[in-house]
Amino acid sequence: MLETWLTRELGITIPLVGAPMGGRAGGSLAGEVTRAGGLGLIGAARYNTAEWLEEQARSAREIGGGHLGFGLMTWSLDDDDSLLGAVLAHHPQVVTLSFGDPAPYVKRVHAAGAVVISQINTLEDLRVVEAAGVDAVVAQGHEAGGHTGRIGTLPLLQEVLESTELPVLAAGGIASGRGLAAVVAAGGVGALVGTALLASPETVGPDYARERLLAAGSADTVYTDVFDKARHQPWPARWCGRALVNSFTETWHGRGADEQTLADEYTADDPDIGVVYAGEAAGLVRSQRPAGDVIRDIGAQAEQLLGRFH
Ligand SMILES: Cc1cc2nc3c(=O)[nH]c(=O)nc-3n(C[C@H](O)[C@H](O)[C@H](O)COP(=O)(O)O)c2cc1C
Repeated sequence: MLETWLTRELGITIPLVGAPMGGRAGGSLAGEVTRAGGLGLIGAARYNTAEWLEEQARSAREIGGGHLGFGLMTWSLDDDDSLLGAVLAHHPQVVTLSFGDPAPYVKRVHAAGAVVISQINTLEDLRVVEAAGVDAVVAQGHEAGGHTGRIGTLPLLQEVLESTELPVLAAGGIASGRGLAAVVAAGGVGALVGTALLASPETVGPDYARERLLAAGSADTVYTDVFDKARHQPWPARWCGRALVNSFTETWHGRGADEQTLADEYTADDPDIGVVYAGEAAGLVRSQRPAGDVIRDIGAQAEQLLGRFH
């Protein structure tokens, strides 16, 4: 077993966290990641209702044997923090507060008994979340699926590891035991994986999202804001999202079109147009496999690779 701060703190057996993917990671995916030995997080998006969260929490606990965690986007709480209250009502073990300054919320999460972990994209972000009192950080690299920063996972991981006493996880491009082994060998306590799980049948979302991911290679993604604009998602400008290239990005990415034009042209029902957020690890996802198998395989391969050095 690979034992790190993460496995000890969360009482898990594989140092992997299932990414909180808004619109894709609900209770079934989170529960299966947890049942396999990691900790699966439910992605709580701005548009999720308290009822939906309750349903997802129930299924994550049932499948995962009691463990529960959620991921929130910090900037969206600054307008309306009711989603935080809805999440804490379920007494999660972990809450991730990413993309923004978590300072106003950390005490509340700690008071509810949960560990706070923040995804960060720069050393400046590290200083902000350290000052806020988080328990661990995730160095999230540019390769990651969904919203992310602009520095690659490896350079960011190295500079974060050299700059903090906090436990450090990595995210972005990790989809095999080789990736997890690299992170742990470098001094990280584990990895947060998203794209690796996105072809699994337990994900939420349209069938075309799983099919398109399987057809994609690692060069078939783009870092863009066109889907945020088209879907009226008011993300701060410093974070764009990594998605699979499709005819919508080929037509509109980099053209400077205004929000209304993009919204008028967008339809989520069309597989050539609808967004499929996914990272550069897309080429490592080759079949629709149960999430538990993906997690167990990554853990076993990492353990085997690291075992060579004992
Ligand atoms: C479809 C999708 C949705 C995401 N939604 C969220 C989110 O709601 N909150 C969050 O903190 N991160 C979100 N992320 C980012 C992930 O937490 C994580 O950083 C990323 O998936 C890691 O990189 P990887 O995809 O290469 O494994 C999302 C990622 C994807 C692929």
